[in-house]
Amino acid sequence: TEDAATATISADKPGPVYDRRIFTQFAEHLGHGIYEGLWVGNDRAIPNTNGFRNDVIAALRQLSVPVVRWPGGCFADEYHWREGVGARAKRPVKINTHWGGVTEPNTVGTHEFMELVRQMGSEAYISGNVGNGTPQEMAEWVEYITSPAGSLADERARNGHKEPWALPYFGIGNELWGCGGNMRAEYAADVTRRYATFIKAPAGTKILKIASGANGDDVSWTETMMKMAADKVDALSLHYYTVPGGWPPRHSAVDFDEAGWAETLAGTRKMEELISRHSAVMDKYDPQKRVWLAVDEWGTWYAGDPGTNPGFLRQQNTLRDALVTSINLDIFARHADRVKMTAIAQMVNVLQAMILTDGRKMVLTPTYHVFEMYKPYQDATVLPIEIDSPWYAKDAWNMPAVSGSAVRAKDGKVHVGLSNLDPNKPHTITVKLQGLSATGVTGRVLTANAMNALNSFDAPDTVKPVPFNGARIDGGTLSVTLPAKSVVMLDLQ
Ligand code: AHR
Repeated sequence: TEDAATATISADKPGPVYDRRIFTQFAEHLGHGIYEGLWVGNDRAIPNTNGFRNDVIAALRQLSVPVVRWPGGCFADEYHWREGVGARAKRPVKINTHWGGVTEPNTVGTHEFMELVRQMGSEAYISGNVGNGTPQEMAEWVEYITSPAGSLADERARNGHKEPWALPYFGIGNELWGCGGNMRAEYAADVTRRYATFIKAPAGTKILKIASGANGDDVSWTETMMKMAADKVDALSLHYYTVPGGWPPRHSAVDFDEAGWAETLAGTRKMEELISRHSAVMDKYDPQKRVWLAVDEWGTWYAGDPGTNPGFLRQQNTLRDALVTSINLDIFARHADRVKMTAIAQMVNVLQAMILTDGRKMVLTPTYHVFEMYKPYQDATVLPIEIDSPWYAKDAWNMPAVSGSAVRAKDGKVHVGLSNLDPNKPHTITVKLQGLSATGVTGRVLTANAMNALNSFDAPDTVKPVPFNGARIDGGTLSVTLPAKSVVMLDLQ
């Protein structure tokens, strides 16, 4: 029928590894991203371990979050690490100038963040202060965290942590073209070289340096950074947000019609073109693909929920955000040779969050569930999939109705993620399995009756994956009927 899609999975031509760090999370000192969302302190009735909420940590552990990026974002380029170590009661209270002008108590500092990643079973990605900090301040922070000996290590021990911590990833500022200092690319490249010089890992350890990359389609930034600073770093970042209606964000996270659905999905699909363009520039200077592209901020950005502080970027999360997630995770599969890390913004209570909290209440968003469904992709091998899909169109926006990707997981099992972007009708897809003998298929589907279905504190299970029985395998062909507006993850046997 006209609504049928076809595809081929070439298991005989395995691609690169789908790096687990593509599932990195970002947690900034912003709104209730840290305070209340993760940290409640150990003097509160909300059950916690060393100050971090047990409910939220347990849910995040289910996602096997590989890496957490902290403390910003824009916050990072005004953050002075010394203000966040030592006796908590004596730490200075600052103003969070970027995010709502509220007070920042510095209660969560280096030791607390390292405790957070310990509890989550994740690795640390810390962004240093290039904006209004010195190279010396940055170098001392790195030494404080990682050094086995010396007075900074002694100070760390006096503050409660004798052993050095691992610091696998360090960001050299954030958005140096904007909140990180409004620098020109040439200047930012020089500054990056200079600051990178003083980030030194103790013998036998490694710190991967991530330079502040481009905003959206600014490929000339990438070109300058690659030309002038690539030899001093291991990765270049890229930030791209999906903002229906354009900047500044003003569309509701929940109250939208089909045009809002289509515009958002079309907007998020731009990630493909952006990565291709930045990668092409990187290929010119780094054909060996040594330098990663780290898409360390992505996701939807809507107007804040009614009644919330606009500076807190608190937004609800619907089935539409679930599709945004799967579309991006599929795009990253197609660019896994260069994209080794991405971080959705942000982990809890901010922008396209995994988790929303209100006092002691907590809810898992549709976005959380897609991350959970794609978990087998972590460090799996990408299997190329060619999809020939009918188009879905609404007003000025049109796109292939079916998005997909496939991997062979470390245990040898093949997983196929398929999404139907069309909110109006199911699509059937017939997938030829090349170089692959599978005889059975099981799976789960995430969908709902409404495009803007969401999980609330009162109805937390409206959008969550359930067993899927719309797929079968017959003589080397996989046939799947994807319900309208759905994300499906299949496991082949
Ligand atoms: O994620 C919110 C903000 O968006 C970050 O602080 C900044 O890096 C970006 O502009």
